[in-house]
Amino acid sequence: MKKPKDERTLVLVKPDGVIRGLVGEVIMRFEKRGLKIIALKMVWPTSEHINKHYPSHNEWFESVGSRTKEFFQGKNIDVNEHFGTENPAEIGKQVKSWLLDYMTVGPVVAMVIEGMHAITTVRKLVGHTYPIEALPGSIRGDFSVDTPSAANVEKRVVKNIVHASGNDAEASHEIEHWFSPEEINDYKRSDEDIMF
Ligand code: RTP
Ligand code: MG
Repeated sequence: MKKPKDERTLVLVKPDGVIRGLVGEVIMRFEKRGLKIIALKMVWPTSEHINKHYPSHNEWFESVGSRTKEFFQGKNIDVNEHFGTENPAEIGKQVKSWLLDYMTVGPVVAMVIEGMHAITTVRKLVGHTYPIEALPGSIRGDFSVDTPSAANVEKRVVKNIVHASGNDAEASHEIEHWFSPEEINDYKRSDEDIMF
């Protein structure tokens, strides 16, 4: 079994984060927490690359669509008016098509991060998917107030600065999708022996 401190996850600084000059700020937060950057590059992704990065199965469409629908209902906004449907999977499919637009407007900075329970630790540092809901202190909570109720009216996704793998299966798929094994570096941070 892999040791907790050897867990790996994929992070992307999305085009809005890069264009806003937040790359250094994002990386700093992971490094300060004691996580290790083991691969890093800037890429202007194609639509096809993004299409394969995000899942295309019904379960994922339903989860993205349900969250969006719940948010709209919580704000008493008619989901049908904006999406032409109340079906979560159909809403999820629309969100994915907007994601293909958003993720290809400029370069992203891709990295592999290794460290103590890296997948969940990074997700905590990143914060809630919708920046308006993200706690201050998290990346999304400190640098954005974007929300589906504003975004989806404009037929775009929520701009939330970073992507981080959600679980083991996503992390394995995404690391392989963005990096070849030769691009991933095995080294030791000078503070590892003191921290853990
Ligand atoms: P991520 O994968 O980017 O780290 O974010 P997440 O797990 O928190 O969110 P997920 O459900 O995987 O959704 C992927 C990305 O789709 C965009 N999204 N927009 N209603 C909307 O406008 C909406 N819903 C989802 C976000 O950019 C989200 O990060
Ligand atoms: Mg996700």
